[in-house]
Amino acid sequence: MKAGLIEAPGVLKMVERDIPKLEKDTDVLVKIKRVGICGSDMHIYHGKNAFVTYPRVWGHEFVGEVAETGSAVTSVKAGDHVVAEPILSCGECYACRQGRRNACQTLKVFGVHVEGGAQEYVVIPEKNAHIIPSDLPWSQAVLIEPFTIGAQACYRGNVQAGDVVFIMGAGTIGLTIMVNAKILGATVIISDIVDGKLEYAKELGADYILNAKEVDVVKKVLEITEGMGANVTVDAVCSKESFEQAIDVTSTAGRVVEMSFNTTPSEIAPVKLAKGEMTIMGSRHQTGRFPVVIEYLKQGKLPLEGFANAEFSFDQMHEAFDYAEKNTDTVRKIILSME
Ligand SMILES: NC(=O)c1ccc[n+]([C@@H]2O[C@H](COP(=O)([O-])OP(=O)(O)OC[C@H]3O[C@@H](n4cnc5c(N)ncnc54)[C@H](O)[C@@H]3O)[C@@H](O)[C@H]2O)c1
Ligand SMILES: [Zn+2]
Ligand SMILES: [Zn+2]
Repeated sequence: MKAGLIEAPGVLKMVERDIPKLEKDTDVLVKIKRVGICGSDMHIYHGKNAFVTYPRVWGHEFVGEVAETGSAVTSVKAGDHVVAEPILSCGECYACRQGRRNACQTLKVFGVHVEGGAQEYVVIPEKNAHIIPSDLPWSQAVLIEPFTIGAQACYRGNVQAGDVVFIMGAGTIGLTIMVNAKILGATVIISDIVDGKLEYAKELGADYILNAKEVDVVKKVLEITEGMGANVTVDAVCSKESFEQAIDVTSTAGRVVEMSFNTTPSEIAPVKLAKGEMTIMGSRHQTGRFPVVIEYLKQGKLPLEGFANAEFSFDQMHEAFDYAEKNTDTVRKIILSME
């Protein structure tokens, strides 16, 4: 079978490998149908992901058909369509015992610490395989994982109906956060520096769009909320400045959700947190969000049609990476098809 390998930073190769074998009786062999390219795959390609080890088959956004199941597998069977939950946790550390497996002390992510979904077949544990409707087009199903990231950000920020949520950045992640916040009944203000991205956000239901190149977003959010500030601010720009701005723009008793893996320190005066009992939290991957997002999908609440705006065949993997690099202002999601 073919596998998309990032051998070392900057070295992307299509290689030939044996079809992986089930190792445990709880394993499932999945025939991959689509894999999505995420910003973090590009970071791995460029050697800018602190967690990855090379060589690595990339890909943590993948869907496919169950080809074979171990003898103890009960929840899925051959032929089922599944989306993969791309994280492996130990089940024993403090985070795992708290039900926060995504923050496991020894978290392993497909395509980062273990081989990912950019290959024709992959073995995953039964509990990582979530059944999806068999009539759902594969090219839409592969968007489930990115929407779980948005669901997690809203879950962490405890977004409530009636809250004003300010999302910084209308990139892929910012948009999935926005869709989730709207489903929960929030009013959404979203910023970006690319008008086309803001226009698409508006199409998907943003209440207010702000071009951060043209306006002072902190001032503008305070103006829209009549001095209150946003109740929940999510930083999906992930720069030194965006984290600082997120603090300045959030209301008393508000929450700041930080998506960033940035290593540059931001400067934040502690009084800004104590004064209004602001809560700052990180959000990473997701925990328990797959069933929630699959349910939204069944209820027709996700804008899956048209969200991915470029599709290539798996054989065109190099073109797809090249396209991702050259079209950052227009690309939302690029997917590769194994059919
Ligand atoms: N914590 C997690 O679980 C998680 C998961 C995926 C991605 N991320 C992180 O989230 C970030 C966003 O990911 P993405 O895939 O959406 O990237 P992206 O590049 O698609 O989105 C970033 C957006 O921010 C916009 N932007 C840049 N400067 C801005 C500014 N000053 N104000 C407003 N908008 C601005 C860009 O135009 C772009 O649309 C990345 O840093 C990524 O590492 C975190
Ligand atoms: Zn991703
Ligand atoms: Zn653990």
